Amino acid sequence: MVANEKDVTYDDAGRRLGVLISGRGSNLQAIIDAVTDKRLDATIVVVIANKAGAGGLDRARAAGIETVVLEHASYASREAYDAELVAELRRRAVSLVCLAGFMRLLSATFVRAFPDRILNVHPSLLPAFPGLDGQGQAWRHGVKVAGATVHIVTPELDAGPIIVQAVVAVEEGDTEDSLAAKILVQEHRIYPEAIGIVLNGGWRIDGRRFLRR
Ligand code: GRF
Repeated sequence: MVANEKDVTYDDAGRRLGVLISGRGSNLQAIIDAVTDKRLDATIVVVIANKAGAGGLDRARAAGIETVVLEHASYASREAYDAELVAELRRRAVSLVCLAGFMRLLSATFVRAFPDRILNVHPSLLPAFPGLDGQGQAWRHGVKVAGATVHIVTPELDAGPIIVQAVVAVEEGDTEDSLAAKILVQEHRIYPEAIGIVLNGGWRIDGRRFLRR
């Protein structure tokens, strides 16, 4: 644990997560569990929600993690909101930002504040089915395989370099809900894994490709 920012060592400074949520926070829980079980060497220093009612806030509090609510309705513009988000994250020396069901587009200003240091989990095999309801889009399209993606966030929605993907089979008996549940299991597995890969370093980005060593 880092007692205060003056005590931050280089290693600690590189492993301080800020998690952004809007809803139930099951991916946040997967990250908390991975840290608790020591599968992921990191500290979640803050969880920020854009809605006071986000269920994930209770998960953070139960784990003893500081929470912040920034209601976007109180800000005049996306830029103003994002500037406050950046300030809250910087104040806590966050080194990696993890979007976990954060249902807001981020401005280029925000993305530039943490270059290659913002991750997102998306419930489809990108670049297929970006945007809202990736699972439903896949089911309605009739694909035979679906899945989840963890990627680096760039200003373009759901389009950044891919770190890890996982595939699930779509069976004829699947409904949108059963497919979403199968994908969620994979999200919970690959998100902590991808965070670990990024924190452990030794990777580079070549064009769109995320390459390890
Ligand atoms: C997940 O399906 C994630 O892929 C998407 O939003 C959902 C968030 O779920 N971006 P949760 O809040 O982590 O349970």
